[in-house]
Amino acid sequence: MNTQEIIDAENSTEMQVYSKRGIALVRGKGAKVWDSEGKEYIDCVAGVAVSALGHAHPAIVNAIKSQAEKIITVSEVFHSEPRAQLYKELAAISPLGDCRVFLCNSGTEAVEGAIKLSRVATKRTGLVAAMNCFHGRTCGAVSLTWNKKYREPFFPLLPNVSHVRYNDAESLRKAVTEETGAVFLEAIQGEGGVRPANPEYLKEAREICDDKGALLVIDEIQTGIGRTGKMFACQHYGIEPDIVCLAKGLGGGVPIGALMAKQEFCAFKASDHGSTFGGNPLASAVAVATLQTIRKENVVEKAAKTGEHFMKRLNELNSKKTFSEVRGKGLLIGLELRVEVKDHIKKLQENGLLMQIAGPTVLRAIPPLIIDEKLVDSVVAKIAEVVE
Ligand SMILES: Cc1ncc(COP(=O)(O)O)c(C=O)c1O
Repeated sequence: MNTQEIIDAENSTEMQVYSKRGIALVRGKGAKVWDSEGKEYIDCVAGVAVSALGHAHPAIVNAIKSQAEKIITVSEVFHSEPRAQLYKELAAISPLGDCRVFLCNSGTEAVEGAIKLSRVATKRTGLVAAMNCFHGRTCGAVSLTWNKKYREPFFPLLPNVSHVRYNDAESLRKAVTEETGAVFLEAIQGEGGVRPANPEYLKEAREICDDKGALLVIDEIQTGIGRTGKMFACQHYGIEPDIVCLAKGLGGGVPIGALMAKQEFCAFKASDHGSTFGGNPLASAVAVATLQTIRKENVVEKAAKTGEHFMKRLNELNSKKTFSEVRGKGLLIGLELRVEVKDHIKKLQENGLLMQIAGPTVLRAIPPLIIDEKLVDSVVAKIAEVVE
């Protein structure tokens, strides 16, 4: 198919829920991708923070090939070695001590699992989330998601959900009651504009949940698996959540999600929850390869260093105050502009750089974690050409 045929075929049949960027990506290597016309781009979208090890990493390619040759699907009622290995890998990096894991296929499914688990573990239905949060689009998860444009068309959603100002412990304290089953927070709000929690905020959230007997759920779907320069973003804040939701970076590009919960809150009984594709051997084998490669190649430490370099270069670029703020951690970086960034995204793309928005005025860089400093310098040069 040529480019126009691809575009026409998608546009004529796909449900019109995405605003498309007019190029078809056909190939990737590391932190670069190529479109169907052969044009090269630096990829600071990475499938929206998905491709942790970059495109076509040999460890991912080999894991897919070798598992596909053995077996791709094994129902959860049968044991499976890749799934067993993934449980071991996740338990070894658990940010919440002794845990149990439920494997699923996406971020929103992990959040659904967390909502259901909080109900059975606490026998309470109240949920508290933050303004500007994003937790997904299925009916439970979208009840938590802040932006009205995602929620309102689907009313009535879950009852007993309240939203509080992010980084405001006092309003959280007022909202959490004896009816609250769980508080959902991102350690850094990704879709909501790349807004990190203040240093003390998550500690205060932990205390508030402990005081009221509510569970603290940290949504690490975007921030987890090394994205912020630690394996989990909550580890910057010195807290242990009760539940963590994961997806995106975990599968090296293959769909997977995970719900990790402290052992004591794992109240699901047989048939309380389930997922046909959850923990399938293919996705599990790729997630194992992702986690093992991250460990062997010190990807998290390197991402922390590259992220510091990126921030430094952006702050230098911002000496003329082009951006009202540069913020983020590791390789989750937001550039707040004083104007809407839609046109900038288009111009950056023409200039060979793919970036993502995070709200109308924020340009977001979420490259593969293996991007090197030289390529980061090229990213900053391309941004300078378009934004200055
Ligand atoms: C913090 C957060 N939670 C949940 C989701 C939903 O994940 P998915 O699109 O895989 O359902 C996202 C997706 O961007 C996210 O960033």
